[in-house]
Amino acid sequence: MRKRVYITRNVPEIALQLLNDNQIDYTVWTENRHQPAEELIPVMKEYDAIIVSGPLQVDRHFLESCRHLRIISMMSVGYDNVDVTAAKDLGIAVGNTPGVLSGATADTAFLLMLAASRKAFHMHKEILRGNWNFWDPTANLGLELNGKTLGIVGLGRIGFEMAQRCAGAYGMKIIYYNRGINEEAERQLGAIRVSFDELLQNSDVVSVHTALTPETKELFNKEVFSKMKPSAIFVNTARGGIHNEGDLIAALQNGTIWGAGLDVTNPEPMTADNPLLNMPNVAVLPHIGSATVDTRNAMAAIAARNVIRTFEGKELEHAVVE
Ligand code: DGY
Repeated sequence: MRKRVYITRNVPEIALQLLNDNQIDYTVWTENRHQPAEELIPVMKEYDAIIVSGPLQVDRHFLESCRHLRIISMMSVGYDNVDVTAAKDLGIAVGNTPGVLSGATADTAFLLMLAASRKAFHMHKEILRGNWNFWDPTANLGLELNGKTLGIVGLGRIGFEMAQRCAGAYGMKIIYYNRGINEEAERQLGAIRVSFDELLQNSDVVSVHTALTPETKELFNKEVFSKMKPSAIFVNTARGGIHNEGDLIAALQNGTIWGAGLDVTNPEPMTADNPLLNMPNVAVLPHIGSATVDTRNAMAAIAARNVIRTFEGKELEHAVVE
């Protein structure tokens, strides 16, 4: 019998093509709303696998209700919404799509750093409001990044790409806080591994590239922001849950830190009345880190191949749980 895959959102055509080529049937959820787990569970009985893109909570209850599934194939590098322990216990494979999105995500972090440092999003809004009046030598002043220090929290593939861009473009000094040593970054970029507190105290830009885990949940809170330089920019392109949004807003309002660039928010999506959207030194994007044609095609292809390989009894291309 032909295998069947459920896909939680529209995905690039390449994934559907790969499934077709391998005689696998699929259903794509195309409604313009997130389909919650409770609604999805009864539907899943007819499927052998699921490709997940978006915020579906794949918790123990979901997995126990769908234990016939062979694989949860994430079309993302992050899998914080999956109970990995439960998947292991129940023998359900979990795949993800690392590597191919590192450049695009680092580009987004770099863009947000630069946009915050020059108040670019705010200035654009000022033009739309009809407030471009005259050239004022004392107004709209931002911060320069040349020769400054970048602190990377979580120096994996994406953090490395961000460090490379900042070292190359601005000769920024790279310090990092990471579980292990990143020898390549130390050799190629002169990166220096430091303690978390040293990173906070010495960085002009702190850029977060770590996974959301119980240890990193709201790691950036009032106390942590208070250890940063008043001139520092906080950049988060990883997961919004890594910062406490109320504490971030307060830190920006009272000058504890200077600015922020966010591709991820806490909670997500951010509502239009969020004060961060009206702060001149803040740039916010709606979680588009990996949103380029090439990157999304590559992610979709890996997600599909992980499903195909599972049905063929082969090792996953990228496995979280095998
Ligand atoms: C990822 O790949 O984890 C992106 O953030 C999309 O969720």
